[in-house]
Amino acid sequence: MSEAQAIYLKDYKAPAFSIEDVNLRFELFEEYALVTNVMNIQKVDTGVQELSLHCRDLELLEFWINDLKLQDTRYVLEEEKLTILNVPSVFSIKIINKIYPQNNTELEGLYKSGSIFCTQNEPEGFRSITPYLDRPDVMSVFTTTIVADKEKYPVLLGNGNKKESFDLGKRHSVTWHDPHPKPSYLFALVAGDLGSISDEYITASGENVELNIYCDLGNESKCHHAMKSLKEAMLWDEEKYGREYDLEIYNIVAVDSFNMGAMENKGLNIFNSAYVLADEDSASDANFMGIQSVIAHEYFHNWTGNRITCRDWFQLTLKEGLTVFRDQCFSADLNSQEVQRIEDVKSLRERQFVEDASPTAHPIQPKSYISMNNFYTATVYEKGAEVIRMIHTLLGEELYRKATDLYFETFDGQAVTTKDFLWAMSSASGVDLSAFELWYHQSGTPKLKVEEKFENGVYTLTLTQVIPNTVEGRAQKPYFFPLKIALLDEDAKEVVTETLKVSKESESFHFEGFNLKPVLSINRDFSAPIIIEQEYNNFAFLMKHDTNGFVKYEAAQIFAIETIEAIMRGEEVNPRFSEAYGHLLDLEGDLSYKALLLELPTVSTLMQRMSDIDFDVIYEAKEKLSQHLAQNFQEKLLAIYEVNHEPGSFGMDALAISKRAIKNRALKILSALETRDVIEIAKRQYEESVTMTDRVVALDVLENTDPEYAEVTLADFYSKYKKQTLVMNKYFSILAASHREGTLDRVMALQNDAVYDEKVPNLVRSLIGVFARNYKHFHAKNGYGYKFVADKIIEIDKINPQMASGLCGAFKIYNKMNEKNKSMMKVELSRIISTHELSKNSFEIISKILK
Ligand code: BES
Ligand code: ZN
Repeated sequence: MSEAQAIYLKDYKAPAFSIEDVNLRFELFEEYALVTNVMNIQKVDTGVQELSLHCRDLELLEFWINDLKLQDTRYVLEEEKLTILNVPSVFSIKIINKIYPQNNTELEGLYKSGSIFCTQNEPEGFRSITPYLDRPDVMSVFTTTIVADKEKYPVLLGNGNKKESFDLGKRHSVTWHDPHPKPSYLFALVAGDLGSISDEYITASGENVELNIYCDLGNESKCHHAMKSLKEAMLWDEEKYGREYDLEIYNIVAVDSFNMGAMENKGLNIFNSAYVLADEDSASDANFMGIQSVIAHEYFHNWTGNRITCRDWFQLTLKEGLTVFRDQCFSADLNSQEVQRIEDVKSLRERQFVEDASPTAHPIQPKSYISMNNFYTATVYEKGAEVIRMIHTLLGEELYRKATDLYFETFDGQAVTTKDFLWAMSSASGVDLSAFELWYHQSGTPKLKVEEKFENGVYTLTLTQVIPNTVEGRAQKPYFFPLKIALLDEDAKEVVTETLKVSKESESFHFEGFNLKPVLSINRDFSAPIIIEQEYNNFAFLMKHDTNGFVKYEAAQIFAIETIEAIMRGEEVNPRFSEAYGHLLDLEGDLSYKALLLELPTVSTLMQRMSDIDFDVIYEAKEKLSQHLAQNFQEKLLAIYEVNHEPGSFGMDALAISKRAIKNRALKILSALETRDVIEIAKRQYEESVTMTDRVVALDVLENTDPEYAEVTLADFYSKYKKQTLVMNKYFSILAASHREGTLDRVMALQNDAVYDEKVPNLVRSLIGVFARNYKHFHAKNGYGYKFVADKIIEIDKINPQMASGLCGAFKIYNKMNEKNKSMMKVELSRIISTHELSKNSFEIISKILK
C-alpha cells in the first residue's frame, strides 16, 4: 500500500462553501438503506466554481440541483469524492444514495450492532453515509427522519429534539430536529427494539430535561449506575464551569459492537455497552468507576467539543485533552483526589510515555497524519489533559474559571483552534502563555535533571532540562511548566511550599534559613508530565513522611524500581526498601490509597528505563522482590486480608470498595508464595464472593498459581456467565494474561469458543489485545507470540482496520528490544506491511515502527 497519502496541517484551507441546513431521510431495510439528503448550500469563496463533496464507496441513485435532476455530465463521482461542476452561489442539492449497513464490519458510518442500526461518524464516517462536506469546520442544522419496520425497530432516535412521528402501517417514521449547528461527525441515528430507563434533570435555570438510557431488552436494570453518573455530571458542569444542558432530551444508547468507548453525538450519545451496563453481580468496582467517568466525559463534550468544536482534526486535543482533564477532575471530586491523580498518572506513564518514546511519537497537536483514526492516542488525550492541567495550575482555580468563561462566551457555535483556546486562557488571566505553546508542538517526554546543594544555610536547587538535539529533524527548545515543590525538615514539616515556574534550559532556585539540609519533595501532585532525574533522594523518608499523597506514592515506586534494578544486577533485596515497605503496611487512612502505595511497579514502567529489553529478566527480578515481601510480611498481609475481607458484602460505598481494594492487594502479594494456604484463600474467596471484583481477583490468582483449581473455577465461571458477553470479556482476559505454560495454545483454542466473535471489538481486545500485552508470552523466545498476533492483525485488518491498527500498537517497543526479539519482530512486521491491500490505518503504524 504505497499510495497512502499524508494530510498536513499546513495545507489547511477554510471551506469554500457553507451548508445552512441539511434534511436527511433514512429508509431502513433488511438488505440496504436509502438515504435522501437535501442540503441548502452557499458559496463562501466566490472564486470557486465546483463543489467537491466527500464520499466513500457510495451508490448514487439520483442527483438534483434546485429541483432539476442532473445528468451525469454535471458531476463526477470517484471513490472518495463527488465533484459538481459550475455551481451557483446559493443552491440546494438533493441526493438519493444507497448503502449497506448490514455489510459494514468496519463499524464506521451507519452499521448494525447485532439487530440495532447505529452510527459512528467521528472523525470521517459520515462520508460513507451520504456525500457531504465531512469536515468539522462545516457546521449545519440537521433534521433527520428515520423510517423503518414498526415491529423490528420500534425505537427510532436522532439528534436534538423529537419533532413528529407517523404510523405508516407496517412501518413508522420519526423526525428529529437539532437546532444547534454542528459538524457531521456529531450526527447519529439509532433504530432498534430497545429497552430503556428514564429520568429527568432540572437545569440550574429551571429547564426540564428528559433523560433516557437505551439498551438491549432485559438489560434495563443494569443502567441505573450510568443514569446516576449522568445526573452527577450535569450538576458538576453547572457548578464547576457554569455550563448547562441545551436540549429537551438527552439520550444514551448502549451497543455491543463499538470500536471505541463512547461517542458524544449531540443529544444522542452512543456507547460501547461496557461503559453503560453494570450491576454488583457482573461488574467490578473498576467498571463502575469507568462508567462514571466515560458518561461524564461524553456529557462534558456537549460544551467542550460540540458547541465549541475543532476547526480541523489536528486540533483534536482542543476537545479531547480538555474534556479528559474535565472528567479527571470530576472523578477526583466525586471520589478521592489522591487516588484519582495516581491512577491518571499511572495510565499516562504506561500508555503515553511509552508512545512518546516510540517511533509513533507525535506532539499533542500533530503536523500530519495518514489515517486520522490513528490519532486518538494517549498523547492527544492524556498528555493533552496534562497540558490543560498545567494551565490550570499556572492560572489558579479562579482565573482558570474566568478564562473558561471567556472561552465559552467568545467561541460558542464556532470551530476553533488550540491557539484560540490559549488566547482565552491568557487574555482572561493576564498570564503570558506564549512560551507554554511549545507543549502543543514538540513530542517526547521532557527530562529534568535535579541537583541539590546545601551551603551556609542556603539550599540551592538547580534544574536542568535535558533537551534532545533534534526530534523529527527539528531543534528542541526548553519547556515552560509549573513545578510544585516542598522542602521538608527532619520532622517532615513543610518549611517551604512553592510552585516554581521552570522555563530555562538550566536555572537555580535558592532557599535560605536552614540549619540542616531539607528534604526535597518534587513534582508534587505530578504538576508537570516530565521525568525527574535525580542522583539521590531520601525515598525511604518520603515514603514514610511526605504529606503529598502523590510524592509519597512516587517515592515508593522509585525505591521499588531501584530495588528491582539492583536485583537484575544480581544484588540481594535492599533491606531498607523492605523496611520502608513494612512501614506502608502499617499505615492508617484511606485504604484505596494504601492499596496503590503497596503496588509494585508494572513491567511496563520497569522497561521504560531500559534498552535491549528482555522481559524474562525483568519478570524474574520482580517476582523475586514479590516473593521476598510476601515472605517477610506474610503475617501482616494475612491480617490485612482477614480484617478487610467481608464475605457476603456487596456494598458499593467508598469504604466497601476500598476494603476490597486493600484485601485484594494483600492477596495478590501473598500469591507470590504459591503456598497451599494462599491458594485456599483464593479458592474460598471465589466460592463465597458476591462481587465481580472479588471473583476476578480470585480467578486471576488461581490461574497463576494452581492449574487444577483454576480449571474447575474457570469452568464454573464460564457456565454461570456465558450468556453475558461483558463478563465473558473478563474470562478471556484472565486467560490471555496468564503466565502459565501453554497460554498461547489456549488463546488460539479460545478463538473457537462459542462466545468468541472476531467481529466484536470488545472480544478481540480482551483475547488478542490482552495477549499482545502479555509480555511473557507475546515476547516468547520461540517467536510464536509475534507470529500469532501478526496473523491476527492481517486477518482483522480486512474486517475492521481500526481494530487491526490498535493491535499493531503492541509492536511499538520494537526498537527498544534485545537483538533476538527484535529480529523476530522484524520478520512479522515486514510480513504485515507487505500484505496485499493492507489498510492505511495499519500501514501508517507499521511503517513508522519499521522506519
Ligand atoms: N470522541 C471520542 C470517541 C471517538 C474516538 C470517536 C475516536 C471516534 C474516534 C469520545 O469522546 C472519547 O474520547 N471516548 C473515549 C473515552 C473517554 C472517556 C476518554 C473512548 O472511546 O475511548
Ligand atoms: Zn472524548
